[in-house]
Amino acid sequence: VGIVGAGLMAAQLALLFAQRLSVPVIMRDLDDERVTQGLAHVHGALDKLVSSGRMPATTADRIRADVHGTTDLDDMAGCDFVIEAVTEILDLKKRVFAELETIVSPTTVLATNTSALSVTRMAADLKHPERVVGLHFFNPVAQMPLVEVIHAERTSIEATATAFAVAKKLRKTAVGVADRPGFVVNRLLVLLLGEIVRAVESGTPVDVADRALRPLGLPMGPFALFDLVGPAVGLHVLTSLREELGDRFARSEGLERIVAEGIKVVQPPVAKGVPADVDPAIQEVFGPAGGPGALDEAGVLDQVLTALTVEIGHMLDEEVVASVSQIDLCMILGAGWPFASGGIA
Ligand code: 3HC
Repeated sequence: VGIVGAGLMAAQLALLFAQRLSVPVIMRDLDDERVTQGLAHVHGALDKLVSSGRMPATTADRIRADVHGTTDLDDMAGCDFVIEAVTEILDLKKRVFAELETIVSPTTVLATNTSALSVTRMAADLKHPERVVGLHFFNPVAQMPLVEVIHAERTSIEATATAFAVAKKLRKTAVGVADRPGFVVNRLLVLLLGEIVRAVESGTPVDVADRALRPLGLPMGPFALFDLVGPAVGLHVLTSLREELGDRFARSEGLERIVAEGIKVVQPPVAKGVPADVDPAIQEVFGPAGGPGALDEAGVLDQVLTALTVEIGHMLDEEVVASVSQIDLCMILGAGWPFASGGIA
């Protein structure tokens, strides 16, 4: 298995593939420093698994020996399956696949872990676009049981079947999803985040907006989630969905500033396992609280639920998934929506 990229997502994927498929995995990035960092992440995660008693030391040693790093794409020549997890820039991903096509065998499946880009466009200029399939994982990769399998316009039945088979071997639950912006989970999560910041930018205090969704019983608040996925990634998904689907996906100058200036949005959690609260100091980024547009917690919750309901209606019209229960399944397994609630829809 080849992993293109050695960032945080790529390193989590390298560990998972080596652990569950028991095959050699090669991770490639542009320079030695990034490759070394990616490998260090894998080794650190293995050390934690062993010290917490989740993994026998012998298994960790086997995985450590199976995960390799390189700066040379040619080292992927022997891979049967390659997944890319490079920066979310369409042209960059297209270039990676185009280069890979000249190196790997004609039957190698090329998968993308894109968060929101069109898989169809990513494959469009390849000699063999039919081998490209989306395989979208969720953070933290070891803990979230969902994988979205995206069959693009020209994806072959073989590539789709391979993606489902690989997901099963990784012990994930795969849901087939159409190649629509943000697929299922990201489309709904960033819509939710967009509504939260819209409320804040209309005068709702950040801590009120952060607490507003608590009746839903989600595992973490919206700002903690934004922090988990990485503010730059979260903002990128929100921006791409606004470009593709319109102003239902809020534009927020506050979020743009948070990303540009690297402002931390949450406070350190009070104890392990307790979700982090928003840092009230970020109110300043969004402007003063109060005024006629300010909502209370119930008002924010109502606004978010209304937006989600409208969006799910659009998703069903666009046939993003085969049935509404798959949206529930995706939100339970990909975003920790409480099992007892039956999902979101
Ligand atoms: N390997 C395997 N399993 C592990 C593990 C590891 N390294 N570490 C922990 N686990 C297991 C635990 O045993 C536990 O399982 P159990 O419930 O059967 O006992 C489970 O994983 C939860 O672990 P923790 O108790 O350590 O974690 P918390 O209960 O504190 O929950 C969380 C942490 C899973 C992150 C939870 O807060 C959550 O689900 N948050 C929502 C995350 C989310 O929405 N992710 C999607 C973001 S969108 C995205 O990533 C897409 C991208 O394109 C942007």
